[in-house]
Amino acid sequence: MRLEDILYSQGFGTRRVCAGLVQQGFVRVGEGVVTDPGTDVDLAGLRFTVQGTEWAYHEKAYLMLHKPAGTECSQKPSTYPSIYTLLPVPLRQRPNKGAVQGVQAIGRLDQDTTGLLLLTDDGQFIHRMGSPKHHVAKVYEVGAKHPVTQKQVDRLLEGVVLDDDPRPVQAAACEAIGPRQLRLTLTEGKYHQVKRMLAAVGNRVETLHRSRIGPLALPADLAPGQWRWLEPEQVEALQGRVPVSR
Ligand code: URA
Repeated sequence: MRLEDILYSQGFGTRRVCAGLVQQGFVRVGEGVVTDPGTDVDLAGLRFTVQGTEWAYHEKAYLMLHKPAGTECSQKPSTYPSIYTLLPVPLRQRPNKGAVQGVQAIGRLDQDTTGLLLLTDDGQFIHRMGSPKHHVAKVYEVGAKHPVTQKQVDRLLEGVVLDDDPRPVQAAACEAIGPRQLRLTLTEGKYHQVKRMLAAVGNRVETLHRSRIGPLALPADLAPGQWRWLEPEQVEALQGRVPVSR
């Protein structure tokens, strides 16, 4: 692919900006600076640097982010900084069908919720992960205000009715992991679902952390605010195409 087109596809700006970056000697491929924007570059395993920053070519972007507390999952946040400010600029301006769109979060976490969030620029992947048919299990670690009782655990497993739908919602799994701590697995993603489920059984969420989405656990070495590319096999596993993953 032409170097200028590669930079454009990875979110380094308009085609004109990308051509300019190359012509001005800001782009290195392998060991050397390349100054012709039309240079044909092999995409397999491609890494390049733009103004000193190393970048790995990804046809589509699939990432995980450890969402810190006090951030909003919105491009236009109302009160707290947007999670998108935690990502490098190219990820926020990758083109999609000619428009600058960048990666998007798959679902949202509340501003005070921490933990695993997936982002991508692959519309089909967003659709598949969000589809109720797909039933991706999401695991939450809940810090509760009041001591957790066995009755509360049983009710969460049996199903509770929330105010916007007469059909009960159930936890796919639920266990007390401390006097005021629960591990709760959900396969749906209703608005404030964990908080409303806890309220429905007479308790209250004080802290909420998402530790797993389907086969993918939040890595222990991914600190709050950090992001990482997903490996191709992790993307496959999330789509249910591989039985087990890390
Ligand atoms: N349920 C909630 O109540 N909040 C979240 O952020 C995620 C699930």
